[in-house]
Amino acid sequence: MNSLGHVMELSARDFNIVQRIVYEKIGIDLTEAKKALVVSRLSKRLRELKLNTFTQYYRYLQESPGETEIMFNCLTTNVTRFFREQHHFESLYLECLPRWEAEIGDNFHKRKVRAWSAGCSTGEEPYTLAMVLHDYFQGKKGWSINILASDVNTDVLEKARRGLYSHKEIEGIPYSYLKKYFKLGTGSNQGFFKTKRMLQELVAFRRINLASAEKYPAAGSLDLIFCRNVFIYFDREVRRQILERFHRCLQPGGLLFLGHSESINTLGGQNGRWHMLRHTIYQRIP
Ligand SMILES: C[S@@+](CC[C@H](N)C(=O)[O-])C[C@H]1O[C@@H](n2cnc3c(N)ncnc32)[C@H](O)[C@@H]1O
Repeated sequence: MNSLGHVMELSARDFNIVQRIVYEKIGIDLTEAKKALVVSRLSKRLRELKLNTFTQYYRYLQESPGETEIMFNCLTTNVTRFFREQHHFESLYLECLPRWEAEIGDNFHKRKVRAWSAGCSTGEEPYTLAMVLHDYFQGKKGWSINILASDVNTDVLEKARRGLYSHKEIEGIPYSYLKKYFKLGTGSNQGFFKTKRMLQELVAFRRINLASAEKYPAAGSLDLIFCRNVFIYFDREVRRQILERFHRCLQPGGLLFLGHSESINTLGGQNGRWHMLRHTIYQRIP
């Protein structure tokens, strides 16, 4: 619907323009099946701008430098939750971390965990990771935890940085973790749960576009990458490029966690580079 209450038409030409910009800049493959979704999400933006047609919007997009980013914020899908795909955190806690700790032994200068939540949405994934890692390593001498959390969508990053969640949003968090890592919001935050400072200090949020090689962490600088439910939006070629970069960022033996419907086997060209530890958990082969 436009500001006059009419359903907005997105012509094949205008849809093609949106498809091209989105694919070229952030790698998202908006197939024909996504057209209705694009209309519904962008219509809201058009109403805010009091524009009546997508052709007008395209003109506006060309004239307004910040609008492309806002369009990406409208078009990305940001569904997430705490402890999503819980088996990943169980494997990490019960298998990966103990094995790793044993390998490192008394080598104090290696007592660092450097993780990346790539496509972190509103923060539930990196904060879950922070709780699990903190809980595991607390009381163990000399361990440091650093989590980089990134997304292309600046709105979700803003919410993630605030660390403020509703009753509904904190549902998946075990009570012991909720008590330890969250406090009740006060004042204007009343009725919400806020991440405690100790948790927030473990996570640094940054805008990183996975489809662009810039701003990726340095080669060999990471032990863990969580990139779950993000590859589904990319085509095969974009996935292949991102996977190459992930391989470079991880140190040999480092781990990559993908979403439940994602697999390295379907990404091509990766033979001999990854070892599957469990379904959706991969280890970088040196
Ligand atoms: C469905 S959410 C997944 C969130 C979380 N990883 C999880 O599994 O719960 C997908 C996220 O990927 C982000 N995303 C999409 N394209 C991206 C890109 N090119 N670079 C970085 N993030 C991207 C979206 O903004 C969105 O927040």
